[in-house]
Amino acid sequence: MSVTRAPRKLYVKSYGCQMNVYDSQRMADVLAREGYVETATPDDADVLVLNTCHIREKAAEKVYSELGRLRVLKQEAARDGRRLTVAVAGCVAQAEGEEIIRRAPVVDLVVGPQSYHRLPDLVARAAVEGRVVDTEFPAEDKFDHLAAPTRAATRSRGAAAFVTVQEGCDKFCTFCVVPYTRGAEFSRPVAKILAEVEDLVAAGVKEIRLIGQNVNAWHGDGPDGRAWTLARLLYRLAEVPGVARLRYTTSHPRDMDDALIAAHRDLPALMPQLHLPVQSGSDRILDAMNRKHDRAAYLRVIERLKTARPDIAMSSDFIVGFPGETEQDFSDTLALVDAVGFASAYSFKYSPRPGTPAADSDDQVSEAEKAERLARLQARIDHHAAAFNAATVGRTADVLFENPGRHDGQMTGKSPWMQAVQVMAPPSVKGEILAVRITGTGTNSLYGALVVANGTAPLRHDGADHGTTPDPALPGAPDPAVRAASGGH
Ligand code: 5AD
Ligand code: SF4
Repeated sequence: MSVTRAPRKLYVKSYGCQMNVYDSQRMADVLAREGYVETATPDDADVLVLNTCHIREKAAEKVYSELGRLRVLKQEAARDGRRLTVAVAGCVAQAEGEEIIRRAPVVDLVVGPQSYHRLPDLVARAAVEGRVVDTEFPAEDKFDHLAAPTRAATRSRGAAAFVTVQEGCDKFCTFCVVPYTRGAEFSRPVAKILAEVEDLVAAGVKEIRLIGQNVNAWHGDGPDGRAWTLARLLYRLAEVPGVARLRYTTSHPRDMDDALIAAHRDLPALMPQLHLPVQSGSDRILDAMNRKHDRAAYLRVIERLKTARPDIAMSSDFIVGFPGETEQDFSDTLALVDAVGFASAYSFKYSPRPGTPAADSDDQVSEAEKAERLARLQARIDHHAAAFNAATVGRTADVLFENPGRHDGQMTGKSPWMQAVQVMAPPSVKGEILAVRITGTGTNSLYGALVVANGTAPLRHDGADHGTTPDPALPGAPDPAVRAASGGH
């Protein structure tokens, strides 16, 4: 890094999944080694990265329109005598490659998810050679070459951190582009994951979110010489001093093995919340999707999870209007939503992805029907989410505080069930896990009041009930106790 000139500035915009958020941080870390600092706005950036998502149509379209807008920014930078390097990363980069260079003249470099460790070199090459594309699946492990974040970078990113443990997918659902853009399943070794988690907690992180496209297919060789599954890894990570909370996402129903379900019973640090996409409630459609599980198998997994951890908050993904989906198939999906009672769920209209088997089906569902089904499904999901949230009112739960809240004097954090909770609290609670009495529900979040050891809330919460007696935990949950549970558990 040159000491004589101002640091070059980097702006990364992330679309789509949590793995993209993680990858964006890794890109920032690898460029930090070259002297780049992150800037909060694209206006003064020297390098601008769009970390894209290809999972559904609109996401890629958004990237192209964003690139259109960036032309103006690049011209303005040139007028000021600055060079703005525009990079497209992520799954659109992987899928479209050269096509991006053809369609968007503003782009200097296209980099696929397996090549982020080469970013500094690619930026340098783009400056000298002109536009470059790197969408290889290199033999070397990119994780070996990606930089670890500095303590300061980790601290600035908050008390909950992602750790990629697994990448890629071998399931080949017929609607999905992931096996093509992220490649075959790959599990990171135990020692690397452990080292990363230890670094994160040393910098103050309290909650570790293990991520992977198919995270519960993770496997590795344990230091005990045995083959480890995700369950074993979770038990090990729960022993790391300072790891107060663990979550993992996204899982496939087929890979929810007995040990993983037992981990939800045994590990207080493993939060009572699981995202387990089902996509459809119809066996006919699940089969056409090549999901490798049927409705009954999914419901059995849910039942066992609820036995292991009765208060578990389940969430899921749904696709409506998959080719050939009839009204009967769709009502099977609605019935499954009622049977599970999801705490939250995402639902999408089927979008044909080029190169995937379902895209070629001549049995496509009309746009109007997709829109109508989506609205009905979302209403049903919202109903159950509201019921789940309402059931937490009056309870006391640990909240990990993350950011300033919606209003002055408020801080917002996450409940064990992943609900956002707005609480009147001083900024100093950021990064702490504190007991909160849930007092009400709002749009997209809950309201709560801090509980202290003698049972009084130290700060007023507007309009809230200031009950002084902590309630018992949700049925079946370990007693969250009235305590400041920062660090450890
Ligand atoms: N069309 C609509 N939704 C899709 N998803 C994945 N591929 C498609 C597609 N082609 C949804 C699935 C998946 C989530 C991440 O995105 O529900 O679980
Ligand atoms: Fe896509 Fe299916 Fe793999 Fe999930 S399990 S990433 S939906 S192919």
